[in-house]
Amino acid sequence: MTDFEWKPEYALGHFQIDDEHRKLFRLANKMLLISSARATDQDIRAAIKTLSDYTKIHFRNEENLMKSINYPKLEEHRAAHERIIDQINRFMDIGSSPQRQVELLKETINNWISEHTTAQDLEVARFIANRRSAKV
Ligand SMILES: [Fe+2]
Ligand SMILES: [Fe+2]
Repeated sequence: MTDFEWKPEYALGHFQIDDEHRKLFRLANKMLLISSARATDQDIRAAIKTLSDYTKIHFRNEENLMKSINYPKLEEHRAAHERIIDQINRFMDIGSSPQRQVELLKETINNWISEHTTAQDLEVARFIANRRSAKV
């Protein structure tokens, strides 16, 4: 059962961001699959760590991209990333079972898709598209 289904409306029209988002979906699904497959705690923790590490890489890449184009809402966007990272770190710290951590992360990712990816990330992609069309 894969819970994070990629939908065409998630594509924001920016190749790198979309590619990284698709990878995040794949890693999130892998984490869910592993946690429902009676894997060892160690395997589940490894899948959580892979997802959390890639999340940090993706956020950094997005922030660098925003910086390179003088994106006006960079600080606001960065703060939203920080909040997501803090939440993930807190879940990984609380010492509860990895299955419970996966449940908490699932909720965070759902909110992240609905409140951040399809809103703040979309704004960045639109800003880049407008900038491009203004140049030609
Ligand atoms: Fe993103
Ligand atoms: Fe973002």
